[in-house]
Amino acid sequence: MTNWTLVYNDFVPSQEGLREVLCALGNGYFCSRGAAPEAKADNVHYPGTYVAGGYNRLITKLGDHEVANEDLVNLPNWLCLTFRPEGGDWFNPQAGGLLAYHQELDLKRGVLTRRVRFRDKADRETTLTSRHLVHMGNHHLAALEMSLTAENWSGPVLVQSALDGNVINAGVERYRELSSSHLEPMETGEVGADWIYLRVQTNLSHIQVAQAARTQIFRNGEPLIVARNKIEEEGYVADELSFDLVRGETVRIEKIVSLYTSRDHGISECGLAAREAILRVECFDAIFNTHVQAWARLWRRCDIVLEPAGREQLILRLHIFHLLQTTSPNILDLDVGVPARGLHGEAYRGHIFWDELFILPFLTLRLPDVTRTLLLYRFRRLNEARWNAVQAGCRGAMFPWQSGSDGQEESQLVHLNPRSGHWIEDNSSLQKHVNAAIVYNVWQYVQVTMDMDFLSLYGAEMILEIARFWASAASYNPKLERYEILRVMGPDEYHDRYPDAEEAGLNNNAYTNLMAVWVLCRALDVLDILDEERRQSLCERLDLGAEEIDHWEDVSRKMRLVIDDDGIISQFEGYEDLDEFDWEGYRQKYGDIHRLDRILEAEGDTPNCYKVSKQADVLMLMYLFSSEELSSLFERLGYSFEHETISKNVDYYMKRTTQGSTLSRIVHSWVLARSDRARSWKLFCEALESDIADIQGGTTSEGIHLGAMAGTVDIIQRAYTGLEMRETTLHFNPCLPDELKSVRQKIGYRGHWLDIEVTQDHLTISAAKSWASPVEIGVRDEVHILAQSESITVQLR
Ligand code: BGC
Repeated sequence: MTNWTLVYNDFVPSQEGLREVLCALGNGYFCSRGAAPEAKADNVHYPGTYVAGGYNRLITKLGDHEVANEDLVNLPNWLCLTFRPEGGDWFNPQAGGLLAYHQELDLKRGVLTRRVRFRDKADRETTLTSRHLVHMGNHHLAALEMSLTAENWSGPVLVQSALDGNVINAGVERYRELSSSHLEPMETGEVGADWIYLRVQTNLSHIQVAQAARTQIFRNGEPLIVARNKIEEEGYVADELSFDLVRGETVRIEKIVSLYTSRDHGISECGLAAREAILRVECFDAIFNTHVQAWARLWRRCDIVLEPAGREQLILRLHIFHLLQTTSPNILDLDVGVPARGLHGEAYRGHIFWDELFILPFLTLRLPDVTRTLLLYRFRRLNEARWNAVQAGCRGAMFPWQSGSDGQEESQLVHLNPRSGHWIEDNSSLQKHVNAAIVYNVWQYVQVTMDMDFLSLYGAEMILEIARFWASAASYNPKLERYEILRVMGPDEYHDRYPDAEEAGLNNNAYTNLMAVWVLCRALDVLDILDEERRQSLCERLDLGAEEIDHWEDVSRKMRLVIDDDGIISQFEGYEDLDEFDWEGYRQKYGDIHRLDRILEAEGDTPNCYKVSKQADVLMLMYLFSSEELSSLFERLGYSFEHETISKNVDYYMKRTTQGSTLSRIVHSWVLARSDRARSWKLFCEALESDIADIQGGTTSEGIHLGAMAGTVDIIQRAYTGLEMRETTLHFNPCLPDELKSVRQKIGYRGHWLDIEVTQDHLTISAAKSWASPVEIGVRDEVHILAQSESITVQLR
């Protein structure tokens, strides 16, 4: 295993689902799980192909009520390519006879290779090598190459290459009771002698998806004349090719596939586009080369180089790789968001959550156009967010906890506890804090890029409408002379109500309240920053007047936080009254207790009664804000913020958190980055293992945890380098863990490309040649001016 390749040297049926996800190939536009070309969905394999934004809604009858769910749809399987000697069985590694097995994902080039040697029942030994790619440069293309060598036999062979539209969404076991047939067949056919073609559509959203495939066979580099037979069934088309294979000889099969949807721009009809693309396509090698070049361009900007380059380096690259396969410059003209579980599986139905808070910082500093596109996904759904706010009796805009095609709230109303088999009320849509994450991302984007057009045209309206929501959601408590936000949930999903309460919701969640204050402050800033003309027209259009702005100011100074005499910030009002939990007892009884919610529910109990959190909640504040920023927010509210406030709260809450979400370790590692470097590193390393080692016991096969993947990268990128945007200055305060000698990366900042090297002793920042004006770089207490083509080095010890 070099630090660019993920290698498996065995075939383990129980690991296939996980490996399919870790070896998935995509380009931001579409992504296919790394399933073996001969595999069909069964209890070992789950080939799945997903296109960004490809959603469809279905209704299921559960008992006497109906549930509607919108899913990211599993699209026709284009990989299907298999063979058999005449009279033999189709190749199937599960049938036994494997002599050697090797699978390798090349992260640098985006290629998945598999080499298999096997002996069939008739003692024929065959070597089969396949490699495939989903093109990063031409996002409508994918290519698969398979070489077959008859080691000790000769005879006729049949190869089958298919496009299979008879697929359903069956990737997540606990959704299996729900409706899952999203596709209806439309058309199958041949384009020419070597080509097959399939068109399907989703049955409610009517997104048409077309695929065309060209299959050719070569011997010694020359096309082989083969007999062909086409099979056409509803939703399925295959090309069967027969030829003779001679002992010791290798033939090469190429399958090139194009994929278009009716949502694509610049086409007439997706079927036509797919067919035309395949008619014009080059050979596998040429496609391979341009694909590798596209990846090289991306890596030039996005790689982060660690010294020493051990396992951490490999996993960090794996995380960057999957981030770029889920969202990349290929989405720039699309209307898509970034799903929490990537385009790698069906968990959370491909929905978009607040996880963007963890995902966007990496993109903003390297591919800011991608961030802009993802923020526009939110902007286009502002009207739905306004409607959502109206439904909640508020004003402004309230973005949904889970978002899909049109921005309506997609959170389910009930979810299954697989441990007890019970369907449980799901109140996660009370997590209004997703609104604040959107403002945070807009603000960071503008700070990094100075894209004032974006702020003026889109960002400002989102910020003002979200601020308006918070101000209207906050009610004044005259006794306390404070504003309060009632009946919400914080990030910790273990608490959705008070013990014994009929109604769901908690009051004065500290994270929510303080984020609301921060959003109101940014809204006030925006009104200051906008040019007079834009400010006036926006205020007129939003009917935003002086009185309302004064109210925002008031709310932003009098929001309530519940803080005890020891300086512990209560996760929510009343948290302090909950029982302490018997951690030792439960660890002894159950071992793994990260999903304590499921354990307790199955026992007829609930985490609502205890001081236990699924994930960081109060500590999110220390993750997002520096101590200076926090202290100024506290000061604004008239609360005292002591030097020890951070360490006391970190200590208090870390003990009471189960890390039931992969996001949690990211936050914990981050908040310890300065105060306890060894522990921070340990948590970082654990977070790195989230998916590669599937530490949540089987959830990765349902999709990557993109927030955790991107979060680990961001820990290196920002936490350990101490990188922060402070108004006009890009600030650094490096603090590498002992285990790291150096970190090298490139970031984009206000028109500059900056190469940054941090070691234990020094920091060097070099600005490449550019058109941009000099920028202020702060290192600890000093500010330097850095112009293009210049570099600065600062000693750190
Ligand atoms: C976490 C949420 C997260 C969601 C999607 C849940 O398990 O608790 O914070 O947004 O997963 O990743």
